[in-house]
Amino acid sequence: MVRKTLIAGNWKMNGLLEDGVSLAKGIAQEVKKAGRKDCEFLVCPPFTLLSSVKKAIKGSKVMLGAQDCHYAEKGAHTGDISPLMLKDLGCQYVIVGHSERRTDHYESNELIRKKAEAAINAGLKVIICIGETEAEKDAGKTISVCTAQIEGSVPEISNAQNTVIAYEPVWAIGTGRTPTAAEVEEVHAAIRKVVSKKLGRAISNKMRLLYGGSMKPTNAKELLALPDVDGGLIGGASLKVADFMAIGDASKQ
Ligand code: PGA
Repeated sequence: MVRKTLIAGNWKMNGLLEDGVSLAKGIAQEVKKAGRKDCEFLVCPPFTLLSSVKKAIKGSKVMLGAQDCHYAEKGAHTGDISPLMLKDLGCQYVIVGHSERRTDHYESNELIRKKAEAAINAGLKVIICIGETEAEKDAGKTISVCTAQIEGSVPEISNAQNTVIAYEPVWAIGTGRTPTAAEVEEVHAAIRKVVSKKLGRAISNKMRLLYGGSMKPTNAKELLALPDVDGGLIGGASLKVADFMAIGDASKQ
């Protein structure tokens, strides 16, 4: 399979300067030691740490990403950050459409699509997040919700090089609960079909699909071994070097 594993850390709103730099340095050191060719590592710190984390990971293969962006290039958008600014700072990736942004900032599929498109046009790779709430899962709507989110938030210009999709069930984020491995594989296989319909089979076969939501060293091996899971988007466990690297190790086949 041509899909290289991606282990991505979403630090969310965590980390002051000293902690953030020391976490980034620790990860960079371990990634160097591990010398993996089959797996990429990405850290997505808060905006305030991007610049210092960039320095801390310099010389390692760890990549830098942000957690959100605006869709405009520049202009009157107080408090917002544009994709070009992120690119300028050395980011390779940006996460868009995380459920915490869909909820806290009322982000719609349409807005997320605009952000993803702008980020790709600025030369960034995007991680587009999707996933159902607990009520939607209980109502048997997981696949239909994810399908609508892909249809609405993945832009036409997406391909396997510039886009990664992260399936993150909202009820699994930060809760210690996860779907069963069989459920995760069922959703990921369904996502691949929807992507195939939207962007074509060649792109869908190569596009990386990450699982996110309470991924830990203890459950990572089972989840990362699933045929349609190509990596993880990790929140809580990405804030400790040992846990983040243990998840990386669990991806070795
Ligand atoms: P979690 O978060 O690993 O803490 O559940 C994952 C995410 O929200 O990306």
